[in-house]
Amino acid sequence: MSNILIGITGASGQTYASRIIQILRAEVPLTHTDLIYTDTAKIVWRDEMGSDPLLSIDNHSYYHKYASGSNSADIMIIIPCTMGTIGRIANGTGGDLIARAADVMLKERKPLVIVPRETPFNLIHLENLTRLAKAGAIIAPASPSFYTHPINLDQLIDNFARRILHIAGIHPLPTNNKYIPRIN
Ligand SMILES: Cc1cc2nc3c(=O)[nH]c(=O)nc-3n(C[C@H](O)[C@H](O)[C@H](O)COP(=O)(O)O)c2cc1C
Repeated sequence: MSNILIGITGASGQTYASRIIQILRAEVPLTHTDLIYTDTAKIVWRDEMGSDPLLSIDNHSYYHKYASGSNSADIMIIIPCTMGTIGRIANGTGGDLIARAADVMLKERKPLVIVPRETPFNLIHLENLTRLAKAGAIIAPASPSFYTHPINLDQLIDNFARRILHIAGIHPLPTNNKYIPRIN
């Protein structure tokens, strides 16, 4: 049984996290998925999803197992990830359980996928992202593709969520997904 930790922060794009959680729980056997929201994520989730946040771990408790290298998650994905959380992780300051759990993933050399959502980036954002990439995180920006020819937003979001899971080594791309650009 793999433990997958999804960190959700207060950036736009809560729907990506929602779709990833749905796919993990419905389609990926032998995994346990835990969620942590930042305080701002709960506000943005309510705004963008129109619903209450899902059951989650308290982001202010450092007594949780994910705060320790002895019990870290097998894979962690932070989606969407704010520049604020990226700054905290890039500087090793902890500050909340998401930042501490990400810090643990990096020190334990375990997979950490960060999905930043901001535009444009300033130099501080770019330098923080570079530091995280150098420390071993996979930086996978919230850039959904159009070469899959999505016919609606649900397809676009689903394609992107599956792409992130694939990058994290969790879920194969669906066979019906056309990742080769169509020429006609
Ligand atoms: C509706 C809304 C959308 C936001 N979108 C983004 C975003 O896309 N990227 C970002 O870096 N910050 C965004 N912010 C700002 C962050 O929420 C803010 O910097 C916050 O302090 C981040 O805290 P957190 O990293 O603990 O979630 C947004 C805020 C709101 C209210």
